[in-house]
Amino acid sequence: MEFEKNILSIGAGYVGGPTMSVIARQCPEYRVELVDIDHEKIARWNSDDLPIYEPGLAEIVQSIRGRNLFFSTDIGAAIDRADIIFVSVNTPTKTYGYGAGMASDLQYWEQTAHTIVQHSRGDKIIVEKSTLPVRTAEAMERILSANDKGLRFEVVSNPEFLAEGSAINDLMKADRVLIGHHQSKTGRKAAREIVDIYRHWLPARRIITTNVWSSELSKLIANAFLAQRISSINATAQICERSDADVQEVARAIGTDRRIGPRFLNASVGFGGSCFKKDILNLVYIARSFGLEEVADYWNMVVRLNEAQKARFVRKMVSAMFNTVAGKKIALLGFAFKAHTGDTRESPAIDIARQLLEERAVLAISDPRALDNARRDLEGIPGKVEFQPDPYRAADGASALAILTEWPEYRDLDYSRIYRRMNKPAFVFDGRNILNHPVLFKLGFNVYPLGKKGLSHFR
Ligand code: NAD
Ligand code: UGA
Repeated sequence: MEFEKNILSIGAGYVGGPTMSVIARQCPEYRVELVDIDHEKIARWNSDDLPIYEPGLAEIVQSIRGRNLFFSTDIGAAIDRADIIFVSVNTPTKTYGYGAGMASDLQYWEQTAHTIVQHSRGDKIIVEKSTLPVRTAEAMERILSANDKGLRFEVVSNPEFLAEGSAINDLMKADRVLIGHHQSKTGRKAAREIVDIYRHWLPARRIITTNVWSSELSKLIANAFLAQRISSINATAQICERSDADVQEVARAIGTDRRIGPRFLNASVGFGGSCFKKDILNLVYIARSFGLEEVADYWNMVVRLNEAQKARFVRKMVSAMFNTVAGKKIALLGFAFKAHTGDTRESPAIDIARQLLEERAVLAISDPRALDNARRDLEGIPGKVEFQPDPYRAADGASALAILTEWPEYRDLDYSRIYRRMNKPAFVFDGRNILNHPVLFKLGFNVYPLGKKGLSHFR
């Protein structure tokens, strides 16, 4: 079959995979391909055991794989074939040299630019899909245009706003798609081609075009604003715990103000995920490199507060359990950084587990999807840890339960059965405020929600 266009994603991870699958399904006249240097990952994309879990993703992949959606490790041939290349590789925090612990590590990014030049025999549109520091397109263009084949590459920025666990829905019903382009004839033409893709399923008013730098920066700022809301509500939760105010009541009271809005106001053990922390640290680094110290400090506080939130949760547990958890079994319910994903990158559960192990607690960790990752995350950390898919067995003989991920199934567990089989006095620490606290208290638990008064049977 002849396809109208060849679209390629370099990088077949959490962003490349779902994004390209949706584009392929919505644009059957385009041939969509994903390549990756990770051969095992590509083999899994070509199997029934996909490398990532997202509701609805497997159904899409199964229905169009081999028709207009392809996964391959032959990066050179795929580049040569492609008219439009989305670069969706990882851009983690740098761990070495200048900017270590803050700046983006752009080595994977730069490597793709060289690979594109090496294998191209025609002009192409290159789309920045990964999240990048503002003005990265300039560096990309310098590498791409330093070719002696007379080739022209037009770089467009199209950052991704999907959230894990709802990726397909977020892509299908995107609040907006952002396309940053150069204000030249070729820049506008390239942007139109990208707009055409999304117009297959999104109305024109949802597609925003800007200059390249606004687009790059907007992605970092969107994540910084979202994370800042969580740190703001978590800071509020701390005040609530000292003042007998209730953080959920406060969230409802302020969220009804349309200027503030109700979403992203759930107090928690802290935000996790692969991006919030790395993107804010990157923003902090950029601000410092511009000499904007107060701006850098401002955003840095969002991350500091998040670190403190995790530590405070552990301190609260230890202090409630008579200042020692040594030798006590504690069941951690949830390890993923949020519900509906098996991803544990930067999950608050990792730090909480580590700190509890330092206190010599004995951990039983349960999660419907993240146990393999949990095992890897805690490898090498001294202490006793059991990984238990069944939450009831995890709680057996435990002195405390801690809810670390808001999996809906944790709401509906049989807590009277759990209580009967726990060590007494039994404690619940609800790090996501998803349980019915008065009911648990009546069953006999000492209950410690977040940002509201604890319910304790002790005098
Ligand atoms: P990921 O680690 O899941 O996937 C990236 C993939 O790129 C990996 O499979 C890796 O093997 C591959 N890769 C690296 N270098 C390569 C190369 N030279 N050639 C071919 N493949 C290469 O990462 P991700 O979560 O998909 O994130 C990718 C980018 O998108 C990051 O910049 C991230 O900040 C951004 N982003 C992520 C999310 C999210 O929810 N995860 C959402 C929006 C934006
Ligand atoms: C986030 C953004 O929501 C996406 O728009 C963005 O594309 C993505 O980062 C990215 O750039 O990687 P994601 O990290 O997948 O998506 O998940 P979120 O739903 O934003 O949750 C992030 C963390 O904040 C989770 O740990 C979650 O539990 C926590 N959270 C969220 C709260 O603690 N309280 C809330 O009210 C909301």
